[in-house]
Amino acid sequence: MSNPEDPAGTDAGDDLADSTSDASLRRSEARSEQIEADLAVHPERYRILTGDRPTGNLHIGHYFGSLRNRVRLQDAGIDTFVVIADYQVITDRDGVGPIRDRVYSLVADYLAAGIDPARTTVFTHSSVPALNQLMLPFLSLVTDAELRRNPTVKSELDASGDRPMSGLMLTYPVHQAADILFCKANLVPVGKDQLPHLEQTRVIARRFDERYGRAVPEAPVFPQADALLSRGAANILGLDGQKMSKSRGNTIDLGMSADETAKLLKRAVTDSDRRITFDPVNRPQVSNLVNLAALTLGRTPQEIADEVGDGGGGGLKKLVTTAVNDYFAGHRARRLDLVADSGYLRDVLADGNRRANEVAEATLDEVRTAMQMTYA
Ligand code: TRP
Repeated sequence: MSNPEDPAGTDAGDDLADSTSDASLRRSEARSEQIEADLAVHPERYRILTGDRPTGNLHIGHYFGSLRNRVRLQDAGIDTFVVIADYQVITDRDGVGPIRDRVYSLVADYLAAGIDPARTTVFTHSSVPALNQLMLPFLSLVTDAELRRNPTVKSELDASGDRPMSGLMLTYPVHQAADILFCKANLVPVGKDQLPHLEQTRVIARRFDERYGRAVPEAPVFPQADALLSRGAANILGLDGQKMSKSRGNTIDLGMSADETAKLLKRAVTDSDRRITFDPVNRPQVSNLVNLAALTLGRTPQEIADEVGDGGGGGLKKLVTTAVNDYFAGHRARRLDLVADSGYLRDVLADGNRRANEVAEATLDEVRTAMQMTYA
């Protein structure tokens, strides 16, 4: 294992290159199905870590893509940690923006959506020093070449144009590994684009135990974390038919009012064919609205299309607007109450940070013990 040509031991089980292949994706999908079946029976076997970068407000794409799935998993009885990854904000930008407001806005949306702070630990990355300290030993377990070819880093790089890459961006997979491993999470709900970074997390965990955990090989310090490919995650497009994202200004934020939502939906792109159909390939914008109505009304896209029939874009928008506003009315009311009670939001975060620090310190102690760095 200690090959001097290969300081990070990349010869051992370097399967990152394979993790984006079709075969590997099918394996991950099959594994996710197995885990879904098992967690319904044995929720106590799992610990979940998931999180968000506080770069803006959550929108309905986040809600249907990840937030409601987190609530489902929490309600299934799985111990869940949610990291608000504030340090990650500065991987690709020069400042933090109005970060404190954004952090509290995230907490408000989590709670309004049904995250229960008694069961789920919500914490801010920068508040947990022991988690961040794991970066140092973990960095010794990866090479810069390996990081440069990590598809997650590559795509982030492409998205940032010609800007030079910061060291923090390059080491993105390593700090995400620290986020996951500090609490020994063995399950991470992700989209398939995140699979390579989870593979990197498994590689780091394995290398750590190969180097330092030999004393008790059957009791590794770190688990091998699985991806849980988000079941029932719906891909909602923005109002222009492109990916919904705050940088494109095409989002419906969870915190928007019913009026703002109605105005935005009125401007949504459709086409001139009055007959409404569900045809995501040929009519992506119309189908996106049909899909949004289906999700919020709990019906199939086909039923929605049939109901609007020859009502055209106008008829469709009317239906979607009412459906979306009814669906999120409860969330929005709860959110307003929460935002008005900033003391409560602070308490929730303080309590989550306290719990995260306890867990992180226990893990760091194990790491230092395995590395024989225990003195006096
Ligand atoms: N990178 C994630 C995002 O952009 C947030 C995040 C930070 C995360 N650490 C993580 C997600 C660990 C999963 C696991 O939203």
